[in-house]
Amino acid sequence: MMIDCTERELFIFKKISRSAKEMGVSCYVIGGFVRDKLIGRNTKDADVVCVGDGIALAHKVAEHFQPKPVVSYFKNFGTAQIKIDGMEMEFVGARKESYRYHSRKPDVVPGTLEDDQLRRDFTINAMAISLNEKDYGHLIDPFNGMEDLEKKIIRSPLDPLQTFNDDPLRMMRAIRFASQLGFSIEEKTFQGIKEDAERIQIISQERITEELNKIVLSQKPSVGLDLLYQSGLLHIIFPKMVDLAGAEYIDGMGHKDNFYHTLQVLDNISKKTDDLWLRWAAILHDIAKPVTKKFEKDHGWTFHGHEVVGAKMVPKIFSSFKLPMNEKMRFVQKMVALHLRPISLTKENITDSAIRRLLFDAGEDIDSLMLLCEADITSKNKQKVKRYLDNFEMVRRRLAEVEEKDRIRNWQPPITGEMIMEIFGLAPGRMVGDLKNAIREAILDGEIENSYDAAFEFMINKAKEWNVKPVN
Ligand code: CTP
Repeated sequence: MMIDCTERELFIFKKISRSAKEMGVSCYVIGGFVRDKLIGRNTKDADVVCVGDGIALAHKVAEHFQPKPVVSYFKNFGTAQIKIDGMEMEFVGARKESYRYHSRKPDVVPGTLEDDQLRRDFTINAMAISLNEKDYGHLIDPFNGMEDLEKKIIRSPLDPLQTFNDDPLRMMRAIRFASQLGFSIEEKTFQGIKEDAERIQIISQERITEELNKIVLSQKPSVGLDLLYQSGLLHIIFPKMVDLAGAEYIDGMGHKDNFYHTLQVLDNISKKTDDLWLRWAAILHDIAKPVTKKFEKDHGWTFHGHEVVGAKMVPKIFSSFKLPMNEKMRFVQKMVALHLRPISLTKENITDSAIRRLLFDAGEDIDSLMLLCEADITSKNKQKVKRYLDNFEMVRRRLAEVEEKDRIRNWQPPITGEMIMEIFGLAPGRMVGDLKNAIREAILDGEIENSYDAAFEFMINKAKEWNVKPVN
């Protein structure tokens, strides 16, 4: 074997090899599995291409295993899948036509191995390993994919315009691989993306978002997002992010380029977390800067309220990307809304009450918020960064102290609405809410202790002021 496989994989490949021999067809492991093995990445699924009927081969292979695995197949596409020991094997007949993934109009014309390799997206994804007796384990690499792997280059085997025309999603795949693998895109291939960018619009939002999320989850997502920007794809799939780019100058005063700032924040947070949603929060934290931007004669550039407006923009953005409209979205919204709060606490003498309010508002997401805020410090001035980070550590310490003392995180007020109704014989209504809020504010302000007794006494006094009497 030219690639380093586990015993289990070798066992499965031998069975596939035997099945193909029985049928008198040839077959090869191809694509992502070969690529990932060659660069030492983890693999789970493998594609097998067969010069002949892929579905028939899958059925034959299944017969060689006990218990016999289920073969799921799609006749129109000529593909079949078997799951063995958690490893998904996909079988397909070699074809002349391109891989129109998920196309409604599959038109599959049988071809040779070489035809099939030629219609794949990139040279590094077109390499095949023979499973045939005569050259078992041999690498078949007609477009020097191996050399491109070594040089870390993404290149299409055909003229890029033809490759992208076959499936425009490949433009995003090129950028996604560049970002995931730390590769660069060969110039002509990148030129092809620039020329064809508009055609991304014929691809479904779900597939675009899937690739975008893979870029966001890569080790250094700025690589992919900057390539999306440079190629013009970002202008089509995420124009609001493009609006962040550039700096305007008035009276010699400029503001920072918020696009590159956002990329830097995203890279910073990506060193600390693999959480997709926290990474999305980094992407969106300043999204309302363009629409809130003002030049004020005395202050220069301001973006007042961008955190509030930004939080309001989140649902629409999530919905347009078909991202989930659930607690993940609300988490991102909360991060955007609160992203200036911890930083504001580094500036003055902080009171316990300010710390308590932050803990209360952020709740269980306080650690994520602190990560985002820390990632947001991107000044070029090293001393400034150090000063900010030192202050930040202090806020962290204070948060921990206040948290230990008052247990505000996931805090439930010591007196509930139901209790208030019972004590004063009130029906649900404004007065109940007012009393509840008054208790909460008093605790957060540090006016009273966070305990039942203190809250009870405070409530009785407050109620007296408002002419409300307890039932007994
Ligand atoms: N392929 C292609 N064009 C596409 C999608 C896939 O030519 N638009 C081919 C490539 O040869 C690819 C193989 O089909 O290697 C398998 O595709 P897929 O499973 O989507 O991607 P992988 O390359 O395996 O990478 P990953 O698992 O990271 O998505």
